[in-house]
Amino acid sequence: MILPIAVHGHPVLRQKAKPLAKDHLDFNQFLKDMWATMYRTDGIGLAAPQVGHSLRLFVIDLDVFKDEYPELKGFKKAFINASIEYLPSKSVSLSEGCLSLPGIHKKVKRPNRIRINYQDENFEQHSEEYEGFAARVIQHEYDHLEGKLFIDYLNVFERLLLKRRLNLMMNGKVQAGYEIIRQTK
Ligand code: NI
Repeated sequence: MILPIAVHGHPVLRQKAKPLAKDHLDFNQFLKDMWATMYRTDGIGLAAPQVGHSLRLFVIDLDVFKDEYPELKGFKKAFINASIEYLPSKSVSLSEGCLSLPGIHKKVKRPNRIRINYQDENFEQHSEEYEGFAARVIQHEYDHLEGKLFIDYLNVFERLLLKRRLNLMMNGKVQAGYEIIRQTK
């Protein structure tokens, strides 16, 4: 099932997500729906809060970038109950977008190396290090669990330029190529 997307202005995007238990109701179906929704919306990552569920789960598929970044071939992972450690590295700027901020792309500066501890879809524990593009996408999705969006990293001037569009978005005046969660006020 394709799930509708929560866009900027929906309170779930600003909540700290809760741990996901192995016996969570319909977990397998929910994970399937997350993948289906991510592919349908042409996303490379999707976090549970973005489909209205405040749970510590996100999925990432970076295989599409294998020509530019050969190390990403076959990178398709679900991250459950993750925690991130930022490793000593220089920060790098790169343009980001987000299904919860349709039509907005901005350069975001992020640390280049991370360690992530997480459980996979079988709830087996892993601890892995990533750098470069994978580290960036993981940080972006992880931020969703902490109630953060990439626009939070922009400077005052950049935010001012986006203010009108963001206000319209918060008031439900938004167009996207996918179904969004309409809030009743
Ligand atoms: Ni996002």
